[in-house]
Amino acid sequence: MIPQTQRYQPSLEDVSALAKRRGFVFQSSEIYGGAGGVWDYGPLGTELKRNVKQAWWHEIVETRDDVVPFDAAILMNPQTWVASGHAATFHDKMVDCRVCKHRFRADHLPSLEKCPDCGSKGSLTEPRDFNLMLKTFLGPAEDTASQAWLRPETAQGIFVNFKNVAQAARRKPPFGIAQIGKAFRNEITPGNFTFRTREFEQAELEFFIPPDGTDDQWYRRWVEVRMAWYRRYLVEDRVRFRELAKEELAHYAKGLTDVEYHFPWGWGELESIANRGTYDLTAHIKESGKDLSFFDEANKAKYVPIVVEASAGVDRTALALLIDAYDKQRYVDQTGKEAERVVLRFHRQIAPVKVAVFALARNKPELVERARSIEHDLRRVMRTQYDEGNIGQLYRRQDEVGTPWCVTIDYQTLDDGSVTLRDRDSMEQTRLAADQVKAMLLERLAG
Ligand code: GAP
Repeated sequence: MIPQTQRYQPSLEDVSALAKRRGFVFQSSEIYGGAGGVWDYGPLGTELKRNVKQAWWHEIVETRDDVVPFDAAILMNPQTWVASGHAATFHDKMVDCRVCKHRFRADHLPSLEKCPDCGSKGSLTEPRDFNLMLKTFLGPAEDTASQAWLRPETAQGIFVNFKNVAQAARRKPPFGIAQIGKAFRNEITPGNFTFRTREFEQAELEFFIPPDGTDDQWYRRWVEVRMAWYRRYLVEDRVRFRELAKEELAHYAKGLTDVEYHFPWGWGELESIANRGTYDLTAHIKESGKDLSFFDEANKAKYVPIVVEASAGVDRTALALLIDAYDKQRYVDQTGKEAERVVLRFHRQIAPVKVAVFALARNKPELVERARSIEHDLRRVMRTQYDEGNIGQLYRRQDEVGTPWCVTIDYQTLDDGSVTLRDRDSMEQTRLAADQVKAMLLERLAG
């Protein structure tokens, strides 16, 4: 667990400015003025998100023998959303200001008496239901018969395939199905950078349990697993796990824990872990008329499994990691002068680039060649970046994107084959033989 620290608390502007400057996140289709609530990931953001997904996948799928992977399509038969309840009830209440024409989510307003933007009294409309699913059409005809939805969650693709997967993978409950994929919600008020968007990625696990009284144990076990995962990557006092009271739960749910991060604007949800009972499978059995129950050969008994779900937002987690890693530090540089640096203190597994390799002088071909060859060799086993020039600037640039290690090739390298290895957090520099670098970094990455 990362201990509570005096780490700098950045504003959302600090983080979004750095994210744009260094190529983590850009506004989608920026040259046309953007698309509301949609973001693109630049080279470093793509690596960051890939590392978040890999860390999740590793924990949930690769290291377990009771979870299988899945990849459902975004488009599904529209009846799916009738069965799941999304067609009828996936609503937010929306109000409009008749004066300034701004639109709000009713539950985000302190009162309906006046518009929070223009201040006009009595200008807000009555709250109206607004379905959050994004509509599209399958095929050339744009009529109700061809109407479809972009999935608002990946989970339903798993539920409707439960029987296919159980049979094909020869699994019996308890076992889980995991997938990572895009989801879409036509949010009334997207905002807080990549926190609430209209297109995002979810990492979802649906874990199927026999009705033998172990579902609560499984629910608690999954809460523990997910807690440990978040605690590995986030500062201790900035993440919390909030178990909802029985009265706060949906009628079918038997338990729900929200994982929340302390964002610059307050606590916000990263994941929810829920004991959903048999609600989802039963709804699809009823709507489709197909038998999705499980036949247990050993007991010659048929049952509808109970589901524990762990549903995480990849973009929100990436944003939390970016905010969490952001630090500003005053230090004394090698010339004895006071200096300040912005450093992203990413966990090594999360850092987009693991090691940067520098040639200290651009105009010395042997140095450049040596540095390039060391970087090529490292690139085969980890994400690297090559750069050259002024060492102070090179370090600052890598600190700002959270690269844990830098290797510098200088004149001494040509004499004795040694290089300088610099650690991002301690800023300590050690001299070691160039041919020891790869093994040492691999050990540190795994450790
Ligand atoms: N299958 C359950 C489900 O979808 P949810 O709480 O609605 O549950 C799960 O969503 C996670 O998906 C959230 O905790 C959040 O991290 C992410 N998420 C939901 N809506 C989002 C949005 N508009 N923008 C970014 N992430 C979102």
